[in-house]
Amino acid sequence: MSAIPFNIAASDGAARTGDLVFPRGAIRTPAFMPVGTAATVKALYADQVRATGADIVLGNVYHLMLRPGAERVARLGGLHTFMGWPRPILTDSGGFQVMSLSALRKLDRDGVTFRSHIDGSTHRLTPERSVEIQRLLGADVTMQLDECVRLPASREEIERAMLLSVDWAERSKAAFGAPQGRALFGIVQGGDVADLRKVSACKLVDIGFDGYAVGGLAVGEPQETMLAMLDETVPALPWDRPRYLMGVGSPDDILKSVARGIDMFDCVMPTRAGRHGQAFTRFGKINLKNARHADDPRPLDEASDCPALRDYSRAYLHHLVKAGEILGMMLLSWANIAYYQHLMYGARAAIAAGSFADYAASAQEGWARGDI
Ligand code: GUN
Repeated sequence: MSAIPFNIAASDGAARTGDLVFPRGAIRTPAFMPVGTAATVKALYADQVRATGADIVLGNVYHLMLRPGAERVARLGGLHTFMGWPRPILTDSGGFQVMSLSALRKLDRDGVTFRSHIDGSTHRLTPERSVEIQRLLGADVTMQLDECVRLPASREEIERAMLLSVDWAERSKAAFGAPQGRALFGIVQGGDVADLRKVSACKLVDIGFDGYAVGGLAVGEPQETMLAMLDETVPALPWDRPRYLMGVGSPDDILKSVARGIDMFDCVMPTRAGRHGQAFTRFGKINLKNARHADDPRPLDEASDCPALRDYSRAYLHHLVKAGEILGMMLLSWANIAYYQHLMYGARAAIAAGSFADYAASAQEGWARGDI
């Protein structure tokens, strides 16, 4: 396997900071990857995403295969050219979105057949086709096709999906080959069952991947369950390979997971919340819909270097949100991605300085204190 260099510069407890180095650029870890589902981080220009400090964005096989189509993106020069993002892109394999978005899906040992949520047309994904689509898109990080079960579920159901995902991991690796400068990640499943998580991690490590994702979490379970599953899973993964917690999470989830040795995150939370009038700040989450902001001339955070947080009054943001203006969604999406990147920047610096626990405690204090 063509290992992508992962240089761990410092560690602090289980937390680590380093660089995952791709030909298209390095990813500073711990990293937050903004979600660009349909070849766009919703409501943001690619240059703006970069200016917040993001090194990598996500794309989705499920959305892009349905519209505009992977072969079309390939003909147009690949996803980087298509969306104007020249840096690394990670693409999710599609299984998770098939389960959450498509109508009439049918899973078998070989793959999954489903109806598009857009026009009802029938499509099929197998581990091999998912890898092929990610190659056509030009992904820097390819994710294996997996099956994520919704919790709560029985042990039998969780075990079946985990073993199927291990089988699909093997097939994904065979289909991927050893392309230069590109990475393939396996995905640990096992729901909320500790011993199944360990089995999943060990089987994936035996197969051998460039990095290891932890999937099947943040699917409705309490935070303690998620953290307990990380405590079971992470020690079974190799120290010298990146670990990616999929679909997580809130700023608090992220710091607690960094403390447990996670290096990469993605979540729709900052952009989705931004489109719904909510801002993540160092004073906690602020709901701009609330009438208490109508006469407030203060910006969200006067000390921020992001214009969206620093240069617009809460009264103006409140007005934009109440009036349903597009600029409200743009500014709050920008502010939220900027805050998430700021949080990760601080986490990396604190790990390097050996003060990550203090950093996390002080961030948590700020959220709890609020913005009086
Ligand atoms: N995104 C969030 N969770 C998951 C998961 O378990 N699998 C995949 N492929 N994507 C995810």
